[in-house]
Amino acid sequence: MTPSELHRDPYGVGLAYRFNVHQDAVKHRSEIDLLEISTEDYIVRERRTYSDPDEKLLRDALATFPCVAHGLSLSIGTVDRLDETYLNATRRFMADHGLNIFSEHLAFHRVDGNDLTMFLAIPFEEVAVQWVKRNYYAIRQWLGRPFALENVTYAFPVPHCSLSEADFLRRLCEETDCTLLLDVTNVFNNSRNHGYDPIEFFERLPMERVSQMHLAGGHQLPDGKWEDSHSAPVMEEVWPLFDEAVKRAVNTRIVILERDSKLKPFDSVMHDIRRAREIFYSHRPLEAPHRELSDITGGEALAPDPLANEFAGMRSYQRALMGRISDPGFREAFLANAPEAVKKFEVTDPAWFQRLADCDGQAMRHFEESWDYFKKEDETVAREYENREWASWAKQLGRGGW
Ligand SMILES: [Fe+2]
Ligand SMILES: [Fe+2]
Repeated sequence: MTPSELHRDPYGVGLAYRFNVHQDAVKHRSEIDLLEISTEDYIVRERRTYSDPDEKLLRDALATFPCVAHGLSLSIGTVDRLDETYLNATRRFMADHGLNIFSEHLAFHRVDGNDLTMFLAIPFEEVAVQWVKRNYYAIRQWLGRPFALENVTYAFPVPHCSLSEADFLRRLCEETDCTLLLDVTNVFNNSRNHGYDPIEFFERLPMERVSQMHLAGGHQLPDGKWEDSHSAPVMEEVWPLFDEAVKRAVNTRIVILERDSKLKPFDSVMHDIRRAREIFYSHRPLEAPHRELSDITGGEALAPDPLANEFAGMRSYQRALMGRISDPGFREAFLANAPEAVKKFEVTDPAWFQRLADCDGQAMRHFEESWDYFKKEDETVAREYENREWASWAKQLGRGGW
């Protein structure tokens, strides 16, 4: 089978591939239907260097399993220009390896070049539907295929929005040909953290548009919040929800178990895979039902203009929100006199100002602290790297130092 046939339309229950469990995955080939490849692990140089630099393991995985691709840093909700480097690298990676199915996250996390690397909720508003719709079509054109969007765990929903999360997803499906990657653990966590009924969420969702599902482990934090740590077995409460989701989402073809760390003993991973298989195949045929893959038709391929008037409010909100997280000076100014401080980011619409002012304080403090911590850590790593570079040059030049 050629790579493009193998990866054309995978079906079944699989694993988010991590190079450090390569041998274990191969050993259990008969029980793992497919792998989900994190494109970031290969298109981001630093990540590649520390994992599988010559992509030897990856090549073996791609020859052994049907595979799909999953991206991480698109930030489709950011009202800004698309990251062409990211899109080109993703397209090239998929073409080089014959991958066909792609998915990304329905969130925003990067503003003005600052990347929080934690997902923030998109405002569940019609203007955000319109932004994501146009961005989706531009990206679809770029990648040459429709793709799935994943619901994420968010610390707080943007306050005072007119749509619920499920209605937002429904609107997006009405406006585009995207499918949904339903992360069932994220639904569970959000429903507990933000107080809604997950079954009601399913009822409002266009479940027929779900093409893929994720299951991940997590736990409850000391403050009572639920977190998808990706480092533990799937929580007991998530399984009945997964069963319900598979039953309702009749077009789901792919289920992926995500485990980023604590992958050993691998038996514990296989335990979750087996349980997911049992549920999936109790509602689905063992053989993949035939389907025609849709070609690209319709939709405006031109990327939306981030400076357009209609997106000004959302853009100013995002910039000021990231300012609160990443800029200590702005943080202080905001606390002292918010209406005055937000002029810096041209937050002129009172509705967007109110959303900014009423963001969950505890979550914002958490983001600020994480930002400061990682910034310091990044600086330390950069300094150490630089010192090492200088030291090795000095050594090569036969000098003791500078
Ligand atoms: Fe994901
Ligand atoms: Fe996920």
